Amino acid sequence: MDEIVEKLRADYDAVEYEALEHVHAHPDRIAVVAALGGLTPPRVDNCRVLEIACAVGGNLLPMAEQMPGSRFVGIDLSPRQIESGAAIVREIGLMNIELRCQDLMDFPEDAGEFDYIIAHGFYSWVPAIVRERLMQVCRRHLSKNGLAYISYNTLPGWRAKGVIRDMMLYNARGATSPAERATRGREMVQLIAENISYGGFYRNMMKDSQKSISNAVDSYLLHEQMEAVNDAFYLRDFVSQARGHGLTFIGDTNASDDYWNRIPASARDTISKLSADSVERDQYMDFLTNRMFRRSVLCRAEAANITHESAASQIRKLYIAGNPTETSAGTNAAGRSVIEFGTKDDKVQLSDARPIAAMRRLREAWPSALSFSDLAAAALEAAPENQRDSEKNAVAMAHVIETCYSLGIVELWTRPTDHIARVPGEFPRATRLARWQAVTLATVTSLRHTRVVTEPALRQLLPLLDGTRDIDALAAEVAKQNKPTPDRQTLKKMIGLALQQLATASLLIKN
Ligand SMILES: C[S@@+](CC[C@H](N)C(=O)[O-])C[C@H]1O[C@@H](n2cnc3c(N)ncnc32)[C@H](O)[C@@H]1O
Repeated sequence: MDEIVEKLRADYDAVEYEALEHVHAHPDRIAVVAALGGLTPPRVDNCRVLEIACAVGGNLLPMAEQMPGSRFVGIDLSPRQIESGAAIVREIGLMNIELRCQDLMDFPEDAGEFDYIIAHGFYSWVPAIVRERLMQVCRRHLSKNGLAYISYNTLPGWRAKGVIRDMMLYNARGATSPAERATRGREMVQLIAENISYGGFYRNMMKDSQKSISNAVDSYLLHEQMEAVNDAFYLRDFVSQARGHGLTFIGDTNASDDYWNRIPASARDTISKLSADSVERDQYMDFLTNRMFRRSVLCRAEAANITHESAASQIRKLYIAGNPTETSAGTNAAGRSVIEFGTKDDKVQLSDARPIAAMRRLREAWPSALSFSDLAAAALEAAPENQRDSEKNAVAMAHVIETCYSLGIVELWTRPTDHIARVPGEFPRATRLARWQAVTLATVTSLRHTRVVTEPALRQLLPLLDGTRDIDALAAEVAKQNKPTPDRQTLKKMIGLALQQLATASLLIKN
């Protein structure tokens, strides 16, 4: 066992994992899962967070900067990764975070309590004894209402990826360097994908893998597909292990991975009859969707007095944000105009003036979240005079929001998004981390913990946004850095537009 841990340490020291932020592994998202279940999640802006396997801190650092009232501890086995993370912490001057080089097996009993414990990309990639320790640590160190987040590869869907892993490892046998291992892994998938002579399931699977694997960086291939340990689990087994440690499964953070509302009512009926409880129901859904990955939230068993009220009624206590696309979708059978709101993956069609007004209100408010009552009020205003029953309106709106949340069309928050600027303001300011990322990495982290790919012009502007420059000073700096530049008025106009783009991408802090 020590040998495996040593091998993992050596692998991550040899090639750092390209660890970035994970939107679904943020206390804001974890808290929503608990709130929808009727629990009282710990306050996100004043909490203690432990991240296990934080690597270089890509997930933890943005949280630490954006939630100065909270405290953060990150541990990881690899000294090299921790040193890289600590160097960034020093460079951007964060005071509320500690990154420690530590094997989870040695996590001290007196480390205190944490409101959120996060382990992303860990459970499937460590031996069974370390998975057991993870559960013990969650049980021992979660505060009374604390929440743990654990992500893992799931069966049955991951089995197909296991086939690909096996062939990559086979072809990499005898490789003498990590770069050669990654190359041989990539070449194997290419060899198969390009030479399968018959159609069908296997061919499609290999073609799809080739696309993702040929674009993946070495560190991803080496530490995801080709790492010494990579296991997948049925939800029922994960939940049963958690139960054995006095922990209860509440749900998963990426609501749009849950297809319950997207399958026919008759299938929902059948699955409900076959399932003794919600975990069995979710297990059936994993079979139905061939699910490959979960991001599960656990709490202490005694804190899990999960409500019998519907998620829709819990939504009334939350904040909602969304910037869906809006398109006209003709008229319905009653002759009413239908408007479609959505993302590139999913849409809702609405014909009632009330939810349509609410969705438009969300678009206007973006990137800020609105309280449910403000949103319901916007909907009520759009109702005909004789249909202004505020309770009925609120119930209907909560159902619309629940559907949109489950389709990934809107986000839910347990707190107002006071930190995100809707307009750039006189002295626009981005986080220190985003300013550092803009010059160092290919992507920057937004204030909603999403990964943003910025164009070169925006990347040039971001480092200047430390809150000391107004648009004249920004134009002067940009003019210094670029020759030739347009006349000052045109340049200021261009910068104004760029700043608004950054605000829409949730990259500017509200002053
Ligand atoms: C696949 S990477 C995931 C990194 C990061 N959490 C992410 O998802 O971006 C797995 C990480 O687990 C760390 N790790 C493996 N075994 C560990 C242990 N026993 N204790 C602490 N960290 C460990 C590795 O050093 C590595 O950084």
